[in-house]
Order: sequence, then structure tokens, then C-alpha cells
Amino acid sequence: MTQDELKQAVARAAIEYVPEGEIIGVGTGSTANYFIDELGKIKDRIKGAVASSEATAARLASHGIPVLDLNDVEGMSVYIDGADEITPQGAMIKGGGAALTREKIVASVAKRFICIADGSKLVDVLGKFPLPVEVIPMAQAAVARRLAALGCEARLRLKDGKPLLTDNGCMILDLVGLRIEKPAELEKQINDIPGVVTVGLFAIGGANVALLGTEEGVKTLT
Ligand code: 5RP
Repeated sequence: MTQDELKQAVARAAIEYVPEGEIIGVGTGSTANYFIDELGKIKDRIKGAVASSEATAARLASHGIPVLDLNDVEGMSVYIDGADEITPQGAMIKGGGAALTREKIVASVAKRFICIADGSKLVDVLGKFPLPVEVIPMAQAAVARRLAALGCEARLRLKDGKPLLTDNGCMILDLVGLRIEKPAELEKQINDIPGVVTVGLFAIGGANVALLGTEEGVKTLT
């Protein structure tokens, strides 16, 4: 199976976790997009969705799924999203699609985080995938120096030769060369740097369930 077919398989499997008649949180990225396409087929079974990015909001709307403002939603049972890396304990690196801040916010309002990913995302130790950190533009250089002191290279993410701007008008630093043995500690440490909006470590609030697409079928980690 191709990586896309594995992503489609977990997207289909995630439909089982969609609660009847409720509002759900929806992530961003190619796996989340496959999930949205599946959700479109059962859209009448849910009240609507809260999107973690402008791109996700547009895709949900293209399927006729009502997109709700998070300010109008008190809680959600589930948030369903992909990951760039995930450990067997459910700690994740996210933000490859630059949506980490809204992803973390929407996930924080949901009771359970259901991670959907192809099996290649499962790792014992996080850090091979560059760790994204969203930063306030005026603090970018100062934050990069603080992050480099952790023993990594902080690379400003570019798009068409210019700094990429997130949906929040901020920039992304990708941290290369980390081996993250204690993800929750590092998450706290990076959160504390002035100018950091969000670090793409989801360890303090990790995945409750991971659906991983493999050649042997969809594996469930809880
Ligand atoms: C976007 C994310 C995505 O969940 C992550 O990058 C995985 O993407 P994909 O499903 O395309 O592999 O965190 O900010």
C-alpha cells in the first residue's frame, strides 16, 4: 500500500470515533483531509466541526459540513488530527503543516485526541522530524538564539523565498537535531521563552488513541 492509501485507511477507521449528533474538532494536513472527505459522507450525523486552520475550514465547508467558531462551542468529545511523529505513549510532534497553534487550542477543548497517521510516524524517541515552533515575528531572532542554545539548529521556515506566515500572522522556526527524551519537559521549557506562541510538541496533552495505518491493517494504540 502507498502512504496515501494507509492515510485513507486510518481516515476511514476514525469515523467510528465520531459521536452522533455532536460537534467535533478537526485537524489539518493530508491525513486530516482524507478524514474530512470521509466525514462528508456522514455529515448528517454530526452538528458541525471546529476547524484547526483556514484550509480545514474551507475543506469542511466544501463538503457542506457546518464550521463553527470555537468561541461558540463549550466542549467537544473528540478532536481528530494527524501527526508528524508519535510515540507509543501518545506524545507527538505536530506542525508540519504550520497549523500547530490552532491545533493545540482546538485539541485542548476536546476530551479525547484521536491521532490518525500512517505507521511510519510511530517512533520511540521524538525529534527526527524538525520540531516546529510558532513565534511572534518581532521575536523571531531572539527566540531562535534561545532555541539554538538547546543544542539544535533553528531554521526559519520559508515559502517562496520569504518567511512563511501562519493563519495567525506568525512565523515558524523548525528545530533540527533534537533527540527529545523528555517531551513534556521540553514542551514546558520552550513554552516559557518570551515570543513563543506554541511549540509543536503535544506531550502534556498527547493523543488518547492512535490509529496507525500499516500493511497488516489499522492498529490502535490507547
Ligand atoms: C499540521 C500537522 C499535521 O497533522 C502533520 O503535519 C501531519 O500531516 P500529514 O497528515 O499531511 O502527514 O500537524 O500542522
